Amino acid sequence: MGVSFSLYDHAIHADPYPVYERMREEAPVYRNDAEDFWALTRHADVAEALRDHARFSSANGVLLEPALWGPEAHRFGSFLAMDPPRHTRLRGLVSRGFTPRRVAELEERIRVIARRHLEPALEGGSFDLVADYAARLPMDVISELAGVPEGDRAELRRLADLIVHREEGVRDLPAAGIEAMFTLAGYFADLIAERRDRRRDDLASALLGVADGDARLTEEEILGVLFLLVAAGNETTANLIGNAWHCAWRHLDRPAAAFARIEDWIEETLRLEPASQGIARTAVDGFTLHGVAVPPEARVLLLIGSANRDPRVFPDPDRLDLDRDTSAKVAFGVGRHYCLGAGLARLEARVALEELAAHVTGFEVDEAAARRVHSPNVRGFASLPTTVTLR
Ligand code: HEM
Repeated sequence: MGVSFSLYDHAIHADPYPVYERMREEAPVYRNDAEDFWALTRHADVAEALRDHARFSSANGVLLEPALWGPEAHRFGSFLAMDPPRHTRLRGLVSRGFTPRRVAELEERIRVIARRHLEPALEGGSFDLVADYAARLPMDVISELAGVPEGDRAELRRLADLIVHREEGVRDLPAAGIEAMFTLAGYFADLIAERRDRRRDDLASALLGVADGDARLTEEEILGVLFLLVAAGNETTANLIGNAWHCAWRHLDRPAAAFARIEDWIEETLRLEPASQGIARTAVDGFTLHGVAVPPEARVLLLIGSANRDPRVFPDPDRLDLDRDTSAKVAFGVGRHYCLGAGLARLEARVALEELAAHVTGFEVDEAAARRVHSPNVRGFASLPTTVTLR
Protein backbone atom coordinates (compact mmCIF):
# COMPACT_ATOMS: atom_id res chain seq x y z
CA MET A 1 0.00 0.00 0.00
CA GLY A 2 1.20 3.53 -0.74
CA VAL A 3 2.39 5.69 2.13
CA SER A 4 -0.20 8.05 3.59
CA PHE A 5 0.48 11.29 5.49
CA SER A 6 -2.21 13.60 6.89
CA LEU A 7 -1.76 16.73 8.98
CA TYR A 8 -4.59 15.69 11.27
CA ASP A 9 -3.86 12.01 11.96
CA HIS A 10 -3.35 11.37 15.67
CA ALA A 11 -1.38 8.18 15.04
CA ILE A 12 1.08 10.28 13.01
CA HIS A 13 1.23 12.89 15.77
CA ALA A 14 2.12 10.07 18.19
CA ASP A 15 5.00 8.89 15.99
CA PRO A 16 5.53 10.48 12.58
CA TYR A 17 9.00 9.07 12.01
CA PRO A 18 8.21 5.70 10.37
CA VAL A 19 5.92 7.56 7.95
CA TYR A 20 8.61 10.15 7.19
CA GLU A 21 11.07 7.32 6.49
CA ARG A 22 8.73 5.79 3.93
CA MET A 23 8.06 9.18 2.35
CA ARG A 24 11.81 9.88 2.01
CA GLU A 25 12.33 6.53 0.28
CA GLU A 26 9.09 5.89 -1.62
CA ALA A 27 7.57 9.33 -2.23
CA PRO A 28 10.14 12.12 -1.79
CA VAL A 29 7.67 14.47 -3.48
CA TYR A 30 4.51 13.38 -1.69
CA ARG A 31 1.00 14.53 -2.60
CA ASN A 32 -2.06 14.79 -0.31
CA ASP A 33 -5.08 15.66 -2.49
CA ALA A 34 -7.67 15.94 0.28
CA GLU A 35 -5.65 18.49 2.27
CA ASP A 36 -4.18 20.03 -0.87
CA PHE A 37 -0.45 20.02 -0.24
CA TRP A 38 2.79 18.50 -1.46
CA ALA A 39 5.51 17.46 1.00
CA LEU A 40 9.31 17.27 0.74
CA THR A 41 11.08 15.05 3.27
CA ARG A 42 14.75 14.62 2.25
CA HIS A 43 17.26 16.87 3.98
CA ALA A 44 18.78 18.18 0.73
CA ASP A 45 15.36 19.02 -0.75
CA VAL A 46 14.02 20.69 2.41
CA ALA A 47 17.17 22.79 2.91
CA GLU A 48 17.29 23.80 -0.75
CA ALA A 49 13.65 24.92 -0.73
CA LEU A 50 14.09 26.86 2.53
CA ARG A 51 17.06 28.66 0.97
CA ASP A 52 15.29 29.50 -2.30
CA HIS A 53 12.82 32.21 -1.33
CA ALA A 54 12.28 33.28 -4.95
CA ARG A 55 10.82 29.93 -6.02
CA PHE A 56 9.42 29.00 -2.58
CA SER A 57 7.49 32.00 -1.33
CA SER A 58 6.29 32.76 2.22
CA ALA A 59 3.70 35.30 1.03
CA ASN A 60 0.71 33.03 1.85
CA GLY A 61 2.13 32.26 5.28
CA VAL A 62 3.87 29.10 6.43
CA LEU A 63 1.07 27.18 8.15
CA LEU A 64 -1.42 25.19 6.07
CA GLU A 65 -4.47 25.49 8.32
CA PRO A 66 -7.20 27.39 6.42
CA ALA A 67 -7.47 30.31 8.90
CA LEU A 68 -3.72 30.87 8.74
CA TRP A 69 -3.10 30.49 4.98
CA GLY A 70 -3.49 33.11 2.25
CA PRO A 71 -2.35 36.58 1.15
CA GLU A 72 -3.51 38.12 4.47
CA ALA A 73 -1.21 35.84 6.53
CA HIS A 74 1.20 38.72 7.20
CA ARG A 75 -1.44 40.45 9.33
CA PHE A 76 -0.67 38.01 12.14
CA GLY A 77 2.54 36.46 10.81
CA SER A 78 4.32 39.74 10.06
CA PHE A 79 7.62 39.20 8.20
CA LEU A 80 7.44 35.43 8.68
CA ALA A 81 4.75 35.62 5.98
CA MET A 82 6.61 37.97 3.60
CA ASP A 83 9.26 37.72 0.87
CA PRO A 84 12.05 40.18 0.09
CA PRO A 85 12.08 43.14 -0.18
CA ARG A 86 9.29 43.58 2.41
CA HIS A 87 10.78 40.84 4.55
CA THR A 88 14.29 42.30 4.37
CA ARG A 89 13.17 45.73 5.50
CA LEU A 90 10.98 44.62 8.39
CA ARG A 91 13.29 41.88 9.70
CA GLY A 92 16.23 44.30 9.47
CA LEU A 93 14.40 46.94 11.54
CA VAL A 94 13.20 44.40 14.12
CA SER A 95 16.69 42.88 14.45
CA ARG A 96 17.87 46.27 15.70
CA GLY A 97 15.43 46.10 18.61
CA PHE A 98 15.89 42.35 19.14
CA THR A 99 19.65 42.37 19.59
CA PRO A 100 21.83 39.57 21.03
CA ARG A 101 22.67 41.99 23.86
CA ARG A 102 18.99 42.50 24.71
CA VAL A 103 18.57 38.70 24.72
CA ALA A 104 21.71 38.04 26.83
CA GLU A 105 20.58 40.67 29.35
CA LEU A 106 17.42 38.65 29.92
CA GLU A 107 19.26 35.69 31.45
CA GLU A 108 18.88 36.72 35.09
CA ARG A 109 15.22 37.64 34.60
CA ILE A 110 14.58 34.28 32.93
CA ARG A 111 16.19 32.56 35.93
CA VAL A 112 13.93 34.43 38.34
CA ILE A 113 10.84 33.51 36.30
CA ALA A 114 11.98 29.86 36.04
CA ARG A 115 12.51 29.59 39.81
CA ARG A 116 9.14 31.17 40.49
CA HIS A 117 7.40 28.43 38.51
CA LEU A 118 9.69 25.55 39.47
CA GLU A 119 9.83 25.93 43.24
CA PRO A 120 6.13 25.26 43.96
CA ALA A 121 6.14 22.44 41.40
CA LEU A 122 9.04 20.65 43.08
CA GLU A 123 7.45 20.73 46.54
CA GLY A 124 5.48 17.51 46.18
CA GLY A 125 8.15 15.62 44.21
CA SER A 126 5.63 14.92 41.41
CA PHE A 127 4.47 17.53 38.93
CA ASP A 128 3.64 18.14 35.32
CA LEU A 129 6.92 19.16 33.65
CA VAL A 130 5.04 20.86 30.81
CA ALA A 131 1.87 22.34 32.34
CA ASP A 132 3.48 23.41 35.63
CA TYR A 133 6.82 24.58 34.27
CA ALA A 134 7.91 24.46 30.61
CA ALA A 135 4.68 25.95 29.24
CA ARG A 136 4.67 28.84 31.72
CA LEU A 137 8.13 30.15 31.11
CA PRO A 138 8.25 31.32 27.44
CA MET A 139 5.17 33.53 27.50
CA ASP A 140 6.39 35.27 30.65
CA VAL A 141 9.75 35.80 28.93
CA ILE A 142 8.12 37.28 25.82
CA SER A 143 6.06 39.51 28.12
CA GLU A 144 9.27 40.59 29.86
CA LEU A 145 10.91 41.32 26.53
CA ALA A 146 7.93 43.15 25.07
CA GLY A 147 7.28 45.18 28.22
CA VAL A 148 4.03 43.61 29.47
CA PRO A 149 3.53 44.45 33.18
CA GLU A 150 3.59 41.50 35.61
CA GLY A 151 -0.06 41.93 36.56
CA ASP A 152 -1.19 41.23 32.98
CA ARG A 153 0.98 38.20 32.32
CA ALA A 154 -1.32 35.46 33.57
CA GLU A 155 -4.07 36.74 31.26
CA LEU A 156 -1.65 36.84 28.32
CA ARG A 157 -0.64 33.25 29.06
CA ARG A 158 -4.30 32.28 29.01
CA LEU A 159 -4.86 33.97 25.63
CA ALA A 160 -1.70 32.43 24.15
CA ASP A 161 -2.84 28.97 25.31
CA LEU A 162 -6.21 29.46 23.62
CA ILE A 163 -4.46 30.41 20.36
CA VAL A 164 -2.41 27.22 20.26
CA HIS A 165 -5.17 24.92 21.49
CA ARG A 166 -6.59 22.58 18.82
CA GLU A 167 -9.80 20.58 19.04
CA GLU A 168 -10.16 17.02 17.91
CA GLY A 169 -12.00 16.78 14.60
CA VAL A 170 -11.66 20.52 13.86
CA ARG A 171 -9.29 21.02 10.94
CA ASP A 172 -8.72 24.68 11.59
CA LEU A 173 -8.27 27.14 14.44
CA PRO A 174 -11.22 26.81 16.89
CA ALA A 175 -13.44 29.92 17.25
CA ALA A 176 -12.12 30.58 20.78
CA GLY A 177 -8.59 30.69 19.37
CA ILE A 178 -9.53 33.23 16.72
CA GLU A 179 -11.27 35.37 19.35
CA ALA A 180 -8.17 35.18 21.57
CA MET A 181 -6.03 36.36 18.62
CA PHE A 182 -8.12 39.51 18.37
CA THR A 183 -8.10 40.09 22.13
CA LEU A 184 -4.32 39.75 22.23
CA ALA A 185 -3.96 42.07 19.23
CA GLY A 186 -6.12 44.65 21.07
CA TYR A 187 -3.95 44.32 24.17
CA PHE A 188 -0.76 44.91 22.17
CA ALA A 189 -2.34 47.86 20.34
CA ASP A 190 -3.01 49.50 23.74
CA LEU A 191 0.52 48.72 24.93
CA ILE A 192 2.03 50.36 21.84
CA ALA A 193 -0.18 53.43 22.23
CA GLU A 194 0.95 53.75 25.85
CA ARG A 195 4.64 53.42 24.93
CA ARG A 196 4.27 56.00 22.17
CA ASP A 197 3.66 58.59 24.89
CA ARG A 198 6.02 57.14 27.50
CA ARG A 199 9.00 55.08 26.34
CA ARG A 200 10.54 52.41 28.59
CA ASP A 201 13.43 49.98 28.29
CA ASP A 202 11.51 47.28 26.44
CA LEU A 203 11.11 45.94 22.93
CA ALA A 204 7.84 47.78 22.22
CA SER A 205 9.61 51.07 22.99
CA ALA A 206 12.73 50.03 21.05
CA LEU A 207 10.61 49.21 17.99
CA LEU A 208 8.85 52.59 18.25
CA GLY A 209 12.25 54.22 18.54
CA VAL A 210 13.80 52.57 15.48
CA ALA A 211 14.83 55.69 13.61
CA ASP A 212 15.25 55.10 9.94
CA GLY A 213 13.68 58.08 8.22
CA ASP A 214 10.65 57.06 6.19
CA ALA A 215 11.43 53.39 6.73
CA ARG A 216 10.53 53.46 10.43
CA LEU A 217 8.00 50.93 11.65
CA THR A 218 4.30 51.80 11.68
CA GLU A 219 2.23 50.91 14.75
CA GLU A 220 0.43 48.24 12.75
CA GLU A 221 3.77 46.70 11.85
CA ILE A 222 4.91 46.73 15.50
CA LEU A 223 1.67 45.03 16.47
CA GLY A 224 2.31 42.33 13.86
CA VAL A 225 5.84 41.83 15.19
CA LEU A 226 4.73 41.45 18.82
CA PHE A 227 2.09 39.01 17.66
CA LEU A 228 4.66 37.05 15.67
CA LEU A 229 6.90 36.75 18.74
CA VAL A 230 4.04 35.16 20.67
CA ALA A 231 3.06 32.88 17.80
CA ALA A 232 6.63 31.80 17.04
CA GLY A 233 8.29 31.87 20.43
CA ASN A 234 5.82 30.55 22.96
CA GLU A 235 4.70 27.02 22.27
CA THR A 236 7.88 26.11 20.33
CA THR A 237 10.13 26.91 23.29
CA ALA A 238 7.85 25.16 25.78
CA ASN A 239 7.99 22.10 23.58
CA LEU A 240 11.77 22.23 23.25
CA ILE A 241 12.04 21.99 27.05
CA GLY A 242 9.40 19.24 27.30
CA ASN A 243 10.89 17.30 24.40
CA ALA A 244 14.38 17.48 25.92
CA TRP A 245 13.04 16.06 29.17
CA HIS A 246 11.20 13.26 27.41
CA CYS A 247 14.15 12.45 25.09
CA ALA A 248 16.54 12.02 28.02
CA TRP A 249 14.09 9.79 29.85
CA ARG A 250 13.32 7.72 26.76
CA HIS A 251 16.84 7.28 25.40
CA LEU A 252 19.31 7.38 28.30
CA ASP A 253 19.95 4.63 30.87
CA ARG A 254 20.23 7.35 33.49
CA PRO A 255 18.18 10.35 32.30
CA ALA A 256 19.79 12.76 34.78
CA ALA A 257 23.16 12.12 33.04
CA ALA A 258 21.98 14.72 30.51
CA PHE A 259 22.33 17.42 33.21
CA ALA A 260 26.10 17.29 32.64
CA ARG A 261 25.67 18.02 28.91
CA ILE A 262 22.88 20.61 28.81
CA GLU A 263 23.96 22.43 25.63
CA ASP A 264 24.50 19.21 23.64
CA TRP A 265 21.23 17.88 25.07
CA ILE A 266 19.37 20.92 23.70
CA GLU A 267 21.00 20.70 20.25
CA GLU A 268 20.35 16.97 19.88
CA THR A 269 16.73 17.43 21.03
CA LEU A 270 16.30 20.12 18.37
CA ARG A 271 17.50 17.61 15.79
CA LEU A 272 15.68 14.52 17.02
CA GLU A 273 12.36 16.06 18.10
CA PRO A 274 12.08 19.55 16.57
CA ALA A 275 9.14 21.47 18.04
CA SER A 276 8.33 22.85 14.60
CA GLN A 277 7.94 19.78 12.37
CA GLY A 278 7.02 21.46 9.14
CA ILE A 279 7.00 24.87 7.48
CA ALA A 280 5.06 25.53 4.28
CA ARG A 281 5.81 27.56 1.17
CA THR A 282 4.05 28.45 -2.08
CA ALA A 283 5.89 27.03 -5.13
CA VAL A 284 5.50 30.18 -7.22
CA ASP A 285 6.28 28.73 -10.68
CA GLY A 286 6.05 25.05 -9.82
CA PHE A 287 9.01 22.67 -10.13
CA THR A 288 9.98 19.16 -11.12
CA LEU A 289 11.86 17.01 -8.60
CA HIS A 290 12.57 13.26 -8.52
CA GLY A 291 10.49 12.96 -11.70
CA VAL A 292 7.38 14.57 -10.17
CA ALA A 293 5.96 17.81 -11.65
CA VAL A 294 4.48 20.17 -9.04
CA PRO A 295 2.23 22.89 -10.51
CA PRO A 296 2.57 26.67 -10.02
CA GLU A 297 1.04 28.08 -6.81
CA ALA A 298 1.15 24.64 -5.11
CA ARG A 299 1.28 24.48 -1.31
CA VAL A 300 4.49 22.70 -0.34
CA LEU A 301 5.19 21.45 3.17
CA LEU A 302 8.90 21.21 4.07
CA LEU A 303 9.14 18.52 6.73
CA ILE A 304 11.86 19.65 9.10
CA GLY A 305 11.21 16.67 11.39
CA SER A 306 12.01 14.33 8.53
CA ALA A 307 15.04 16.25 7.21
CA ASN A 308 16.59 16.08 10.68
CA ARG A 309 16.36 12.27 10.58
CA ASP A 310 17.58 11.75 7.03
CA PRO A 311 20.28 9.04 7.30
CA ARG A 312 22.03 10.62 4.29
CA VAL A 313 23.10 13.37 6.71
CA PHE A 314 22.71 11.92 10.22
CA PRO A 315 23.91 8.32 10.63
CA ASP A 316 21.68 6.15 12.86
CA PRO A 317 19.23 9.06 12.93
CA ASP A 318 16.70 7.71 15.45
CA ARG A 319 19.28 7.48 18.22
CA LEU A 320 19.83 10.28 20.75
CA ASP A 321 23.59 10.86 20.60
CA LEU A 322 24.93 13.73 22.69
CA ASP A 323 28.31 13.51 20.89
CA ARG A 324 26.81 13.96 17.44
CA ASP A 325 27.59 16.89 15.13
CA THR A 326 24.11 18.43 14.77
CA SER A 327 25.13 21.53 12.82
CA ALA A 328 23.28 20.46 9.65
CA LYS A 329 19.90 20.28 11.40
CA VAL A 330 17.17 22.55 10.09
CA ALA A 331 15.17 22.91 13.33
CA PHE A 332 15.32 26.74 13.19
CA GLY A 333 14.94 26.94 9.40
CA VAL A 334 17.60 27.96 6.88
CA GLY A 335 18.43 31.18 5.05
CA ARG A 336 16.62 34.49 5.26
CA HIS A 337 13.83 33.27 7.51
CA TYR A 338 16.23 31.59 9.95
CA CYS A 339 14.59 31.82 13.38
CA LEU A 340 15.14 35.26 14.85
CA GLY A 341 14.54 33.83 18.32
CA ALA A 342 16.98 30.91 18.14
CA GLY A 343 19.34 32.53 20.65
CA LEU A 344 16.48 33.28 23.03
CA ALA A 345 15.02 29.77 22.70
CA ARG A 346 18.41 28.21 23.50
CA LEU A 347 18.89 30.56 26.45
CA GLU A 348 15.45 29.79 27.89
CA ALA A 349 15.94 26.04 27.49
CA ARG A 350 19.39 26.18 29.06
CA VAL A 351 18.19 28.16 32.07
CA ALA A 352 15.08 25.97 32.49
CA LEU A 353 17.17 22.78 32.44
CA GLU A 354 19.96 24.24 34.63
CA GLU A 355 17.37 25.11 37.27
CA LEU A 356 16.06 21.54 37.19
CA ALA A 357 19.61 20.17 37.38
CA ALA A 358 20.26 22.31 40.44
CA HIS A 359 17.46 20.60 42.38
CA VAL A 360 17.05 17.13 40.91
CA THR A 361 19.29 14.03 40.91
CA GLY A 362 16.96 11.68 39.04
CA PHE A 363 13.57 11.64 37.31
CA GLU A 364 10.89 9.39 35.89
CA VAL A 365 8.25 10.25 33.30
CA ASP A 366 4.81 8.62 33.51
CA GLU A 367 4.56 7.93 29.80
CA ALA A 368 1.14 6.28 30.03
CA ALA A 369 -0.33 9.49 31.47
CA ALA A 370 1.54 11.87 29.13
CA ARG A 371 -0.54 13.73 26.53
CA ARG A 372 0.77 14.94 23.18
CA VAL A 373 -0.05 18.23 21.51
CA HIS A 374 -2.25 17.47 18.50
CA SER A 375 -1.31 20.04 15.92
CA PRO A 376 -0.45 19.83 12.22
CA ASN A 377 3.04 21.26 12.72
CA VAL A 378 3.94 21.38 16.40
CA ARG A 379 5.54 18.41 18.13
CA GLY A 380 5.53 18.24 21.88
CA PHE A 381 3.57 17.43 25.00
CA ALA A 382 0.54 19.12 26.53
CA SER A 383 1.19 17.16 29.71
CA LEU A 384 4.28 15.29 30.91
CA PRO A 385 3.73 13.92 34.46
CA THR A 386 7.07 13.53 36.19
CA THR A 387 8.40 12.28 39.50
CA VAL A 388 11.76 13.63 40.63
CA THR A 389 14.33 12.69 43.24
CA LEU A 390 15.39 15.89 44.95
CA ARG A 391 18.96 16.73 45.95
C1 HEM B 1 12.57 25.84 20.08
C2 HEM B 1 12.04 26.98 19.81
C3 HEM B 1 11.85 27.49 18.40
C4 HEM B 1 11.80 26.80 17.22
C5 HEM B 1 11.91 25.28 17.00
C6 HEM B 1 11.61 27.78 16.17
C7 HEM B 1 11.53 27.48 14.84
C8 HEM B 1 11.50 28.42 13.83
C9 HEM B 1 11.55 28.11 12.41
C10 HEM B 1 11.64 26.71 11.83
C11 HEM B 1 11.51 29.28 11.74
C12 HEM B 1 11.59 29.46 10.22
C13 HEM B 1 10.25 29.69 9.60
C14 HEM B 1 10.32 29.73 8.10
O1 HEM B 1 11.35 29.43 7.48
O2 HEM B 1 9.29 30.05 7.50
C15 HEM B 1 11.37 30.34 12.72
C16 HEM B 1 11.25 31.67 12.42
C17 HEM B 1 11.06 32.63 13.38
N1 HEM B 1 11.11 32.49 14.76
FE1 HEM B 1 11.46 30.78 15.75
N2 HEM B 1 11.54 29.02 16.75
C18 HEM B 1 11.69 28.89 18.11
C19 HEM B 1 11.70 29.89 19.06
C20 HEM B 1 11.50 31.22 18.78
C21 HEM B 1 11.49 32.29 19.76
C22 HEM B 1 11.73 32.12 21.26
C23 HEM B 1 11.22 33.44 19.09
C24 HEM B 1 11.09 34.86 19.62
C25 HEM B 1 10.55 35.19 20.73
C26 HEM B 1 11.10 33.11 17.68
C27 HEM B 1 10.86 34.01 16.67
C28 HEM B 1 10.90 33.72 15.33
C29 HEM B 1 10.68 34.71 14.30
C30 HEM B 1 10.43 36.19 14.51
C31 HEM B 1 10.79 34.03 13.07
C32 HEM B 1 10.60 34.63 11.68
C33 HEM B 1 11.91 34.90 11.03
C34 HEM B 1 11.75 35.37 9.59
O3 HEM B 1 10.72 35.11 8.96
O4 HEM B 1 12.66 36.07 9.12
N3 HEM B 1 11.28 31.76 17.53
N4 HEM B 1 11.40 29.79 13.99
